[in-house]
Amino acid sequence: MIKCAVSTRKGRFGQALIWGSPKFPVYGKSYLNLDKRKDRVVIVKKLYFGSNLKMYKTVQETTEYLKHLAEQTKDISREEAELFIIPSYTALADARKTVDPAQIKLGAQNMFWEEQGQFTGEISPIMLKELGMDLVMAGHSERRHVFGELDTEENKKVKSALAHNMKALLCIGETGEEKDYGLSPEVLRTQLKIGFHGISQGQIPNLWVAYEPVWSIGVNGTPASADYAEEMHKLIKQTLKELFGKPSKEIPVLYGGSVNPQNAEQLIAMPSIDGLFVGRAAWEADKFAQLIRRAIKARKANQPA
Ligand code: 13P
Repeated sequence: MIKCAVSTRKGRFGQALIWGSPKFPVYGKSYLNLDKRKDRVVIVKKLYFGSNLKMYKTVQETTEYLKHLAEQTKDISREEAELFIIPSYTALADARKTVDPAQIKLGAQNMFWEEQGQFTGEISPIMLKELGMDLVMAGHSERRHVFGELDTEENKKVKSALAHNMKALLCIGETGEEKDYGLSPEVLRTQLKIGFHGISQGQIPNLWVAYEPVWSIGVNGTPASADYAEEMHKLIKQTLKELFGKPSKEIPVLYGGSVNPQNAEQLIAMPSIDGLFVGRAAWEADKFAQLIRRAIKARKANQPA
């Protein structure tokens, strides 16, 4: 059902935001692109592009990176593509002063779920909210596998982020061993069902998911094939539907793990992949901007006419 139609831009293309469509069962937020030259309406799905800066980049490097990225992506419609960057804790305050949230959303790589207390070395949701963070990541594979975090802990982080009105980006993914045993569906379903346990339909607008197979991440990772990623994304969307019903189609599901300029277009062309969560290939602003641009083009080329 078309819920609302807003046209704010003038020029060759009129634009209208829609959620879902009677003709094309698109998933996630979408917008209508009214191509007047060709006299047709194209339904284009909103895409998401983000980078986790991990334990790289100082405060100065982060702010320079953000300035460049904002500059090099300023012509990209944020109705078409949502951009987000997740710097390290020390850079968050300066990062917030550097970019407008309407241009680039900012998030934290981790968070403790309590508001305050005797938790030495931890950062609370109140502290992140104070810095103007838009989102919090929970369950990145490096948190799970290097620091031994559990699904039940990711669930507490997700709930806490939502309670403080920040988006929760839940990362899930199977290890290479689990994949070899044929356990990927079970692992992903478990991580989703525990990670989102006790969350209501009303909180859907603040939920994001990143599928990042552990075997695909980092310098020793092998990128997932677009077909394999699509298969897992379908399973993730099906599980989200079991958890939240039909409105679950609003939850963007991003792929991450050795995304690079060679595979980005193939991945984003897949119907169940709503965005790309990029590490190394995004850490130079001009290269990331180019990757985003090419991915948007590839996705548009695969829209139903
Ligand atoms: P790489 O793209 O460097 O494999 O990292 C992906 C990642 O971990 C994003 O969170």
